[in-house]
Amino acid sequence: MNALVHLHPAELLRRHYRECWWLTCAALLAPAAILIVNTVAGKLGPNPLETWERGTGRWSLICLALSLTITPGRRALAGVMVICRSPSGKRVTDWNPLVRMRRAIGVIAFIYAFAHLGVYLEFDLAWDLDGAWRALREKPFIVAGTVALLTLVPLAITSNDWSVRTLGGSWKRLHRLAYLAAVAGCLHFVWMTKPGITTPYCYVTVIAVLLAYRLYVAVRRRPGPDVAQRGATTDSSDALAITNSPT
Ligand code: HEM
Repeated sequence: MNALVHLHPAELLRRHYRECWWLTCAALLAPAAILIVNTVAGKLGPNPLETWERGTGRWSLICLALSLTITPGRRALAGVMVICRSPSGKRVTDWNPLVRMRRAIGVIAFIYAFAHLGVYLEFDLAWDLDGAWRALREKPFIVAGTVALLTLVPLAITSNDWSVRTLGGSWKRLHRLAYLAAVAGCLHFVWMTKPGITTPYCYVTVIAVLLAYRLYVAVRRRPGPDVAQRGATTDSSDALAITNSPT
């Protein structure tokens, strides 16, 4: 029985966090490696530029969605473990290593987005910056993509232990911008897609469900008028409890 507990995913994650971290990063960066290998081997099909542009754009959005899945995912996993009467992983905190992993997934989303922009500037525009400015003024999907990318920049910069420690509660608030990046990324995808193609709506559905969950949790946590009034006249501990509660 003890040996089986050691094989439990929550235990594996806790005991072998480093290995799980490397494995996750390797898995999420594998599509980039495949793109590079296929480019070198000349196997990217008739339009290598399009394959790169689409591949990097999609993987950025996938990683972004994946990072947003961690919070509800932890709760869901704990719930499943309770239902299955599992010997381990029944508390949300048992899955805390996933929260640490989320930062790496977010950074990978940024790396893909940055490569995506690089491909666009190099192959679509040949670094014609006037052309880039024109595209920004004329194409709403380029505006949405730019908003998504610019939103990811501060998130990627602050995805390290030092920033988490230094920014404290503000770190969490700042990193809620990931939802804005995801929504802008979805708009970018929908607006650039020809009518009748439904692929972007799969991404839109996933992001909409995650956002709806987030709003539901935020509304449920909001104190009632009584509590709010008490908090305003006594101290701010209620508000702090809300800010600091694990998500
Ligand atoms: C300055 C920022 C960006 C620019 C200039 C840009 C530009 C482009 C362009 C030119 C395309 C191809 C359009 C076509 O084939 O007609 C594209 C596709 C796409 N981009 Fe972006 N993009 C940006 C940022 C982003 C970001 C941050 C994300 C993700 C969060 C993203 C996700 C996508 C997706 C999913 C596609 C479609 C891929 C497919 O068709 O399978 N883009 N982008």
